[in-house]
Amino acid sequence: MEEQLEHAARLLRGARRVAVLTGAGISAESGLATFRGAGGLWEGQRVEDVATPRAFERDAALVWRFYNLRRANLATVQPNPGHRALVDLENRLTGNFTLVTQNVDGLHQAAGSKNVLEIHGAIRLVRCTGCRLTTDRGVEPLPDLPKCEDCGSLLRPDVVWFEEMLPHDVWRQAEEAVGACECFLVIGTSAVVHPAAGLVSWARANHARIIEINLTATVATSYADTALQGPSGVVLPDLLKRYAEGKTVDS
Ligand code: OAD
Ligand code: ZN
Repeated sequence: MEEQLEHAARLLRGARRVAVLTGAGISAESGLATFRGAGGLWEGQRVEDVATPRAFERDAALVWRFYNLRRANLATVQPNPGHRALVDLENRLTGNFTLVTQNVDGLHQAAGSKNVLEIHGAIRLVRCTGCRLTTDRGVEPLPDLPKCEDCGSLLRPDVVWFEEMLPHDVWRQAEEAVGACECFLVIGTSAVVHPAAGLVSWARANHARIIEINLTATVATSYADTALQGPSGVVLPDLLKRYAEGKTVDS
């Protein structure tokens, strides 16, 4: 692990443009469940029932109960040392830093990350199904069938459901940043949901060095120059410590 950490720190120090992809795993140590695997959100709840346009057409109240529970849950959690280490990295880096997240929990921004691309939307945002107005409702409780204050139509969570397109501009920016980065960190994601997961091979095709941080091996591991196995709340601060120490030695 020591050697891998040092290798990863060196890759990071050698890069002016850094991009990061995060998934649910980075928020696990904040107390939020991941999606897949034991105890995951998709184990207790079928995707088809709560996270597709069809589910919302069939039973909007059921879908809203699911998202209202997740909203309420968010009110009780805080960013963890993994989120904070990425803020540290953004602040220390003199070149470009882009954080692409699949998470809808807003914890990267809560920690202080600035250049964040939320490619799957955000749970604090709601969008009107009529006039499309998007508003930030924080984590305040909403009714089971919340209505738009402007036009009275049903509101929906402003998150990307299965079978839906990603927000066009945000996705384009993500592709651009990942395609241009010299070092790509892939953190806490099973890397099975597309198009997000495709960013890993896209980075590789554009000659980025890839560092993976995860509890286990994933489909992204074979693309990685180095894979650091462990909880991101521990591994990321360790990596940043080495990165910062080496920076002063290098310069
Ligand atoms: P997953 O639940 O698929 O994967 C979570 C990953 O985090 C797994 O690979 C775990 O091994 C890893 N992990 C868990 N705890 C960790 C920790 N403490 N430190 C490091 N890694 C840890 O979640 P995502 O990959 O984010 O999409 O899932 C991708 C998308 O699928 C989500 O954005 C969501 C979901 O359906 C939508 O809702 C559109
Ligand atoms: Zn409206």
